[in-house]
Amino acid sequence: MGPTAVRQRAGAVRRSALTLFAVTAPGLAPFCALEFSRLGLCPEPPQVEVGGVEVVGDLHMLYQANLHLRTASRLLVRLGEFHAENFAQLRMRAAQLGWEHYLHAGQPVDLRVTCHRSRLYHSDAVAERIAVAIGDRLGICPERHKGDEEGEGPSVQQVVVRLLQDRCTVSVDSSGSLLHRRGYRLATAKAPLRETLAAGLVLAAGWDGAESPPLPLLDPFCGSGTIAIEAAQLALQLAPGRQRSFAFLNWPGFDAQGWQRLLAEADRRAQLRSAQLAGQVLVYASDRDAGAVRAAQANAERAGVSAAVALSCRPLSAVEPPEGVGCVVTNPPYGRRVQGGRDLRNLYAQLGHVLRQRCPGWELTLLCGDRLLLGQVGLPLESRLHFNNGGLSVFVARGRVQPSDRPSL
Ligand SMILES: C[S@@+](CC[C@H](N)C(=O)[O-])C[C@H]1O[C@@H](n2cnc3c(N)ncnc32)[C@H](O)[C@@H]1O
Repeated sequence: MGPTAVRQRAGAVRRSALTLFAVTAPGLAPFCALEFSRLGLCPEPPQVEVGGVEVVGDLHMLYQANLHLRTASRLLVRLGEFHAENFAQLRMRAAQLGWEHYLHAGQPVDLRVTCHRSRLYHSDAVAERIAVAIGDRLGICPERHKGDEEGEGPSVQQVVVRLLQDRCTVSVDSSGSLLHRRGYRLATAKAPLRETLAAGLVLAAGWDGAESPPLPLLDPFCGSGTIAIEAAQLALQLAPGRQRSFAFLNWPGFDAQGWQRLLAEADRRAQLRSAQLAGQVLVYASDRDAGAVRAAQANAERAGVSAAVALSCRPLSAVEPPEGVGCVVTNPPYGRRVQGGRDLRNLYAQLGHVLRQRCPGWELTLLCGDRLLLGQVGLPLESRLHFNNGGLSVFVARGRVQPSDRPSL
């Protein structure tokens, strides 16, 4: 295929409808769907499925989703779906897919294959045939790379192949490294949350800093500052992907001008929001560990939110929330990832006392992995949402802080 033909077909794919799948961590799919709607990325409410959200859009919508979504782990484009019960069918049908829009001839691929209840059950043999089919289409059989879970560098294109009951679904990854890698968190403290999970927690709290004046958000166990930074970026409408690279930037059909326009639009929106907020502090974050606070400060600066986040080194007992009401959104230690042993029950009880005395009427949203600890807080909390934190099942507890009639601590 000549370069003109490739350019023409690239223009066609830009305008044509693509099925996109936003992959999310367990529990985050409804928040990802909410983000799609709030960002105005799709006219219909997106379809929430196991493991993510499916939407129909075009290439520009895909670029925007990568740039703006806070809770998605990666965005896949569905390249095709077909029946395959033997290797000959698999190769022939896979060779009919439009690989030329997403891969350069000879570009290495990272093929992630899963086979369930299908006649083709050997995932490595399936991967090999898909590589051969790509070669049939593009003229050179690509080298296969095995990347880690976080994804590959830009030179290797990840391809996801799923065989279920002899139905083969082929998708290409548009994100590259996982989307939680925003680029700001180079410094970490104990048990940091993934940025996508922290963003999901802020959305679950219903906080977006959009009220006038914005309600403050408080995280008294901020560690490396992930919740505080994700909240501040949300309120400042800073695109989480603006400091990173994406796999789609390397696609043959990449629309560089369209991408620059979207970046400029995102910058304009953030500048406008920043001017409206005029340097107000939106988020109050603290931790008793000085190293964690230093890490949080450095991360907040890299994330472009240091003016909106007031960080301080202090134990929970010395927390001083701002006047009025707001939201506490936090992830206290809960024993399985952070050492705490016998003191943890006391810490949760202390959290309840401090909040009742200093934050009456505030909304509380807690990420926790242990219901017994939660009981120590002594506040009426509901926990219906479940997330996954580094392989551990955790839950989100929410409620309003009732005032205390006990003396101050
Ligand atoms: C699970 S980590 C928070 C991680 C954070 N969300 C992040 O993404 O980096 C809990 C934090 O609570 C802090 N911590 C423990 N006990 C504390 C106390 N009594 N007062 C203030 N901070 C405390 C620890 O230093 C630790 O950084």
